[in-house]
Amino acid sequence: MATRSPEQGDGLVLGIESSCDETAAAVVRRGREILSSVVESQIEEHAPFRGVVPEIAGRSHLRAMMPVVDEALARAGVELDELAGIAVTYRPGLIGSLLVGVSTAKALAFARGLPLVGVHHIEAHAYAAAMEHELAFPLLALVVSGGHTALYRASSPIELTKLAETLDDAAGEAFDKVASILGLPYPGGPAISALARSGDARAFDFPRFRPRDGGLGFSFSGLKTAVLYTVRGQDASTPPSAPEAIPRRADLAASFQEAVVDVLVAQTLAAARAEGLATITVTGGVACNARLRERMTAAASEHGLRAVFPSPSYCTDNAAMIAGQGWHLLRAGRVASWDLDAVAS
Ligand code: KG4
Ligand code: ZN
Repeated sequence: MATRSPEQGDGLVLGIESSCDETAAAVVRRGREILSSVVESQIEEHAPFRGVVPEIAGRSHLRAMMPVVDEALARAGVELDELAGIAVTYRPGLIGSLLVGVSTAKALAFARGLPLVGVHHIEAHAYAAAMEHELAFPLLALVVSGGHTALYRASSPIELTKLAETLDDAAGEAFDKVASILGLPYPGGPAISALARSGDARAFDFPRFRPRDGGLGFSFSGLKTAVLYTVRGQDASTPPSAPEAIPRRADLAASFQEAVVDVLVAQTLAAARAEGLATITVTGGVACNARLRERMTAAASEHGLRAVFPSPSYCTDNAAMIAGQGWHLLRAGRVASWDLDAVAS
């Protein structure tokens, strides 16, 4: 394995991300200064299926990967030989998609004699908040994305301990599924959030999950089913009507969103209190949600805590968070060997 120092090229790291439906590459200096961040989204290819189709994703990553990497290096004005290392998402995600990023990173690193770093996608989401904000560790990290909903205690940018996670659907997945029930486009989060603006959040009293033992945890499948029954009747057998014909769609969207936000805010504050942590970071695609940002910020400040969110483009999938956390891993000597493998879960 290469013997470059993590300070090589002033700590420049190339990050590569391909775990789901975004092909992304970025160059970040010393874990924080984003010189370039290129994200090629496949949303239009998956939208007709209202979700990510793994075969389409893998093929699309193959097509986009090298142009995206070249673009990230060009925009940063950086040559491969100037890098301190290459960081790549190796887990979790769609196996065929992860493999495209991992094999690209390996080939580039091997050819140029650069150290390779494997990054955990969800932990990198949590790290995203540290790129734009000065954060004091330890802190509480809520990661809410399309595939994951989890709370972590972060004692440093790279040391995370999972405190709780969802028992079933992720928060973003619930947004996507409820959007589909309401006949809204994929991805559902932005569509529901937009429609909710003209709806009444108290119109429908949807269930809010609370763990039975009074501990920490999330569940969103009961909420999703409650929306389904409300729209289609108790046996859900009523054929879906034309989306515009669903009565009170905006009220349904606003009431559903409020229920998700209530659960996220309540569990996060409970965790912060239990762990004695004063800073809360909220990251992942659902952290783009305006109502969540507003409610979490207000609830945190009511309790004398601070809630921090990345800008929306660093909440959703990107490679800057991979390069950023990758630099810290590199500095800690967590260099991967050439047999680094993609891991789906
Ligand atoms: O982090 P991300 O880009 O990909 C994963 O790692 O999953 O998150 C994508 C998810 C999707 O489920 C999408 O519906 C959700 O984030 N999302 C939102 C919003 N923007 C994106 N959910 C709620 N409100 C939003 N404004
Ligand atoms: Zn993600």
